[in-house]
Amino acid sequence: RYPAPALTRRAFIASAAASATGAMFPFLPASPATAAQHEISLRAAIGRVRLVPPGEMAAWLYNGTVPGPEIRLRQGERLRVAVDNALPEETTIHWHGVRVPNAMDGVPNLTQKPIGAGESFVYEFDATDAGTFWYHPHHKSFEQVARGLYGPLIIEELEPVRVDRDVTWMLGDWRLTKSGAISEDFGNRHDIHHNGRVGNTVTINGRVPDGFAVRKGERIRLRLINAATARIFGLDFAGHEPVVIALDGQPVAPHAPDNGLVVLGPAMRVDLIIDMNGSAGSRAAVTDRFYEGLEFRLVDLVYDATPLRERAPDWPLALPANPLPEPDVKGAPRNEVVFTGGMMGEMVARDMGESMGRGASGGKMGHTNSMMGGMMRMMTSSAAWFINGVAADEASHDMKPMLALAKDRSHVIAMTNATAWHHPIHLHGHSFRVISRNGQPTRHQEWQDTVLVSPREKVEIAFVADNPGDWMFHCHVLEHQAGGMMAVFRVA
Ligand code: C2O
Ligand code: CU
Repeated sequence: RYPAPALTRRAFIASAAASATGAMFPFLPASPATAAQHEISLRAAIGRVRLVPPGEMAAWLYNGTVPGPEIRLRQGERLRVAVDNALPEETTIHWHGVRVPNAMDGVPNLTQKPIGAGESFVYEFDATDAGTFWYHPHHKSFEQVARGLYGPLIIEELEPVRVDRDVTWMLGDWRLTKSGAISEDFGNRHDIHHNGRVGNTVTINGRVPDGFAVRKGERIRLRLINAATARIFGLDFAGHEPVVIALDGQPVAPHAPDNGLVVLGPAMRVDLIIDMNGSAGSRAAVTDRFYEGLEFRLVDLVYDATPLRERAPDWPLALPANPLPEPDVKGAPRNEVVFTGGMMGEMVARDMGESMGRGASGGKMGHTNSMMGGMMRMMTSSAAWFINGVAADEASHDMKPMLALAKDRSHVIAMTNATAWHHPIHLHGHSFRVISRNGQPTRHQEWQDTVLVSPREKVEIAFVADNPGDWMFHCHVLEHQAGGMMAVFRVA
């Protein structure tokens, strides 16, 4: 059976007065004096984990576990996290998807000095939006995340949807050697120029799972978080009908996933409602089908012998909206952003297009004459990926803003992916509406903080730039980010 994640939680839910404040929805920023405050300490250190029995291996961990502790608080509360860095190198923590003040965003040399080895830092911010978020380092994240530094951050609605169980599955992807250690080839040129460090061992909450126990008739809210550095998931819950109720923590009109596949690029989250409709005593496989030809069974839903109820409940599915400012799309300036680079650049991408299918970045890439062309490019420059012609250098400590966005105004970012690869594009400090793909308005105008852009695709996003500061805009295939695919947007 699939083990429950180890949770540690040190919460100070203060008083009746505090929960009375919390009940005032829509959320108004509560003063620190009255808001319930959660305090937690996170210690980043080298430890040992057992992803799959019997082997134990060294990994980098928050509070000794992978994922790190699930931080859970309620919308409107304030979170205070004291971070101790016991790693042999610098680190920071980024609160992915949470609209924090700039100084709390955890980007080294942009929003804060990195936390040195042996040093500490305190992050503190209000939980403005409810939803499924996560935390991870933003210093050498292609290595630190791949070594195991990540954890879930759940901000509960004041009035959550009714379910029998609220479950988090944090998906991890590891590249292990034959002897069962983490492969040390972080940031190698091949990973940077192709689809990133796709590993060979997928975990749910830090374990290679066997079964996940469920009961017929049970309604589960499943919070999926993709913490992989590079792997994209396309999950098929065969025989079940998952309903998407939130994307990247933000509520969306409840709907069935396109083509029945729940797709999560790196860093993305999907909240599902699943009614367990299998028969008592049966098993049903959850299969990853993103990369064609590389399907694998992620986990089995294992039905208990006793049903919970015979019929699915008819409780409402929709979540209350978060207090996001609505962009004025028509009046907004349009900023063009073009992605280039990677192996098999523009010319070959067209030829590859047909054969790549849904799982573009799958195993077929090696067998092509264009290999040499890409190789030449790769030899002549250390920069692999470009945003509007610029490959950023994270180590330079001097990232100049690429775009200046007028504060409290609406903005459209029109992205063109002129590469042969998928890119999950993340903007810090804001959530944005995904308004169109290839010129067609999206059906749900969904709010996201990370949008998966397919090879050759054009995607437009819109948002109100209401959070002042210098914000990262980057690909969340962390090896692409390391290869230059990042920029700074200044909101002022
Ligand atoms: Cu989840 Cu800039 O990162
Ligand atoms: Cu990318």
